[in-house]
Amino acid sequence: MAKRKVLKFPDERLRKVSKKVTEFDDELAELLDDMRETMYANDGMGLAAPQVGVPIRAVIMDISGNFFEFINPEIVHAEGEQEDEEGCLSVGNFNDVVKRPLKVTVRAQDRLGYKYEITGEKYFARCVCHELDHLDGILFIDRSKNGKEYIKKYGKK
Ligand code: NI
Repeated sequence: MAKRKVLKFPDERLRKVSKKVTEFDDELAELLDDMRETMYANDGMGLAAPQVGVPIRAVIMDISGNFFEFINPEIVHAEGEQEDEEGCLSVGNFNDVVKRPLKVTVRAQDRLGYKYEITGEKYFARCVCHELDHLDGILFIDRSKNGKEYIKKYGKK
């Protein structure tokens, strides 16, 4: 395993739509292991592959000690609403309030390609929405209360 460099806003690569994973091979396993090491080394709760410069639809999360890997994830059901602060390893020194669903069901594949579904709420739901946004080039500052000001201040002129 090796730590990888986390891209920071306003890096253009964070704004790309990531590609679907079609090969469930050693390269994918190595990337996921590296992402795990990188996330824990940075005290993150979640990390998406495009954040380490690999534009594929893969994310990992740790919610209260429970580790998740989602390949080609989709939110197939969402309900309720919650508001809380978020931060991001790709957005330095800024936390802000974002509105998210309270509960989501995710359909995804594991690192071997097996399909599964999982439902969770609160932090789980918040984190899923945040990480899946990364796969579409969306950052929490695009959705947060004071994000526009942050983008204006630190985005590319
Ligand atoms: Ni993030």
